[in-house]
Amino acid sequence: MRVAVLASGQGSNFEALATAIEAGFVEATITLVLADREAPVIQKARARGITTAIQPRKGLSADEHNDQILEILDLEDPDLVVLAGYMRILGTQVLKRFPGRVINIHPSLLPAFKGAHGVRDALHAGVGIIGCTTHIVTPDLDGGPIVLQAALAAEGVLEVDKDAVHALEHHILPRTVQLFAENRIVVVDGRAHISPGPSWKDRVSLVPGAVYAHGF
Ligand code: GRF
Repeated sequence: MRVAVLASGQGSNFEALATAIEAGFVEATITLVLADREAPVIQKARARGITTAIQPRKGLSADEHNDQILEILDLEDPDLVVLAGYMRILGTQVLKRFPGRVINIHPSLLPAFKGAHGVRDALHAGVGIIGCTTHIVTPDLDGGPIVLQAALAAEGVLEVDKDAVHALEHHILPRTVQLFAENRIVVVDGRAHISPGPSWKDRVSLVPGAVYAHGF
């Protein structure tokens, strides 16, 4: 399975995915890392010898930017597009080209706390349980079919909880990609179902105290 990763930031989720591929846990190849800026994720991808591309938004409308992104993706022809901290809205032209094959990692237990500040907004709301979600991307921002989630008790300290959620993300994102590689995701009536198959729980070390959704 050919995977294209879109990212804007540090790229720790990209690293987690690349490491899981290297370890043989995920049967995929990252053929492209595409960023909208010269971000640390690009250095990390280069260090691994992965093809990179940078398409800045500057001087372009959102639509034109998405046309450029689509052109670059089309050259690579990925089977799956992974948004790993991509801080822009992917245009409908891109979603139409890869229907049901674009996924995102989000730092909250969706559908709660959509948007750019999942952990912060959750703590502001006073929640006791925090977590993260992978979902299929649709035009409904952070609202597409949920694939996997993991949760744990909040400490109530932003930096601590952000790190904890990040650690969970690094588990569920590679696992989600592997579920796609195994062809186990079926969307019915807007909900993603995971067909039966091997679990990961016995194969990887889990975050102590965390709860992982069915399918992990
Ligand atoms: C993650 O928290 C992800 O959920 C959010 O952006 C962050 C990206 O982190 N969308 P990284 O660049 O993968 O370290």
